[in-house]
Amino acid sequence: MKKLKDNHFGGSWTEQKVIILEKYAKAYLQIMKGKPWKVLYFDGFAGTGDIVIEGDIEDNIIKGASKRIVSINNPIPFDICYFVEKDSIKASKLKSALHFIRKENVHVVSDDCNEKIKKMAEFLQNNNYKALVFIDPFGINLDWASIEILRGLGVDLWILAPTGLGVNRMLENKANLPESWWLRLERFFGVNRKLILNTMYKEYVDPDLFGGITKRTIKVTKATSKIFEMYQGRMKTVFNYTSDPYIIINRNNSVMYHFFLASDNQTAINIANDIVRPYNDLLDYR
Ligand SMILES: C[S@@+](CC[C@H](N)C(=O)[O-])C[C@H]1O[C@@H](n2cnc3c(N)ncnc32)[C@H](O)[C@@H]1O
Repeated sequence: MKKLKDNHFGGSWTEQKVIILEKYAKAYLQIMKGKPWKVLYFDGFAGTGDIVIEGDIEDNIIKGASKRIVSINNPIPFDICYFVEKDSIKASKLKSALHFIRKENVHVVSDDCNEKIKKMAEFLQNNNYKALVFIDPFGINLDWASIEILRGLGVDLWILAPTGLGVNRMLENKANLPESWWLRLERFFGVNRKLILNTMYKEYVDPDLFGGITKRTIKVTKATSKIFEMYQGRMKTVFNYTSDPYIIINRNNSVMYHFFLASDNQTAINIANDIVRPYNDLLDYR
């Protein structure tokens, strides 16, 4: 069994993720070249333009997804690149960094992705555009409504699903979650808590010696895989297909995220699967 440190494969998992996106974006633009519509890139959790990879000895700074995307000219550039970053200081840093590379039709706004994605959906309804959308949050900051709104709009969506770090951490072992967490999970999955409870927990009934029973509610084993299956299932109610995920693990081999593509186009999914496969092949679990 190979032992890998944080998905290292010439870099960290964070770097693999943006490399996967960049490879996909180039393949996507190759297909879009010469088509009778324009192409929009929308990044809902954009960051500063750089990513700091923390190392044991020293930190390493790599180019974030945004810088990579606005630098693409070959086969064609995106007609419009639109970046949303909630933190205004980060957004202003990002704007300077990106405008240094390309100014024309590169927009950076400081706002909540859940708000701006609605505006983007309206734009796609009224204009002859297809869109590549990248959603890269740290936690469960994306509402289900923000995904549902993309149905039938010609969107290819790469999403970092916080299956392990976000959702699994919230699902306490005995289903004893605070109300605010249930509400957050309902907003994330777009389903009611009963369905989440039935999917993620099992009820055990223990008979006692004198004919009584004790009920125990316990989280299912392999909960992170179940969370991914549930989220993927939800995605398939909006998009025709989803790709195999790039499964992101930490040093202890615990799953943190599933990174995958949702699209209405089978060719897009085949391309994504080809890109993702070598990264997963290096992992030593599953
Ligand atoms: C994982 S980082 C993004 C990294 C980026 N994709 C890259 O390649 O460099 C997530 C970013 O989302 C921002 N953020 C958090 N919640 C947000 C929200 N609701 N809307 C927009 N941005 C948000 C955070 O400030 C953070 O900079």
